[in-house]
Amino acid sequence: MSSTTEYLSLLHRPRRLRRTPSLRSLVRETQLTVNDLIYPVFVMEGENQQEEIPSMPGIYRYTLDLLLKEIADAANLGIKAIALFPLIATDKKDNAGTESYNPDGLVQRTIKAIKQEIPEVIVITDVALDPFSSYGHDGIVKDGEILNDETVEVLVKQAVSQAEAGADMVAPSDMMDGRIGAIRQGLDAAGYFDVGILAYSAKYASAYYGPFRDALESAPQFGDKQTYQMNPANSREAIKEVALDIAEGADIVMVKPALAYLDIICRIKEYTNLPVAAYNVSGEYAMVKAAAQKGWIDEKKVILETLTSMKRAGADLILTYFAKQVALMLQ
Ligand code: PBG
Repeated sequence: MSSTTEYLSLLHRPRRLRRTPSLRSLVRETQLTVNDLIYPVFVMEGENQQEEIPSMPGIYRYTLDLLLKEIADAANLGIKAIALFPLIATDKKDNAGTESYNPDGLVQRTIKAIKQEIPEVIVITDVALDPFSSYGHDGIVKDGEILNDETVEVLVKQAVSQAEAGADMVAPSDMMDGRIGAIRQGLDAAGYFDVGILAYSAKYASAYYGPFRDALESAPQFGDKQTYQMNPANSREAIKEVALDIAEGADIVMVKPALAYLDIICRIKEYTNLPVAAYNVSGEYAMVKAAAQKGWIDEKKVILETLTSMKRAGADLILTYFAKQVALMLQ
């Protein structure tokens, strides 16, 4: 050191705690672990087929036989839970989503098979009509509007039939009013007291769902979802939705999407003692993959930084298409 240096007289030098990797890990505040990850998966009819989703490189729709292998693979990496989404044939779709509660439907058969083959994996099922709706909406359509209470009746049937098939937790993603309470009552009346509800409480009308709708061929046939999903400009309204879902019996509340809504995750975490989930959605996945394929970002570092930021914001659980990749990186 040059003798001419005039040393600052600083009581605090934050860099002291960043000097070495050991020091940095000693004072690390947030830890991403495989225990926090939920892996969303897509199932389709047929045998021995897998189709890559063009806007989601590395993510496939699987027929049930191959999906079981994919889930076993994920479980071997330490992933404890999956969220299941079906691709439904067009001729099975109708306005009221009746296929959604067919006891022999694709979702129901898939749940049974997973619980039989890999019972330790937690199966979380999506409750909403869009994959089953001829209009691609989350509810029943009448004169261009989405009916609330009529839809909730179908959602209850859907949730009960998923519980009957063996789902550990149902996840209503539809944003109809009053559905959490109705589903809780429906499950209890059918004796499924132990089936939990992971509520998509603060679900925004987001452009980040585009690739997911490609995967399920479930894009709305008219209009958009702004009469039921939330306005991205609002945050107090997220608290209102969360408060209602908790009062109605939600076990876990969720914010969706995640990355553009870290402030919402943070507010909800402060508001409730329930576990808070965040959904790192398809568009967030697609952006990282696209930039990485162009060589514009360091994919692995960006993934870890992004998911860590969600935990730092307050997410206890993260639904992410990166689940397997992250589990590998964390090993
Ligand atoms: C449907 C549903 C959507 C997603 C999960 N459940 C799409 C939508 O609301 O249009 C999106 C997930 C993603 O983008 O990864 N109820």
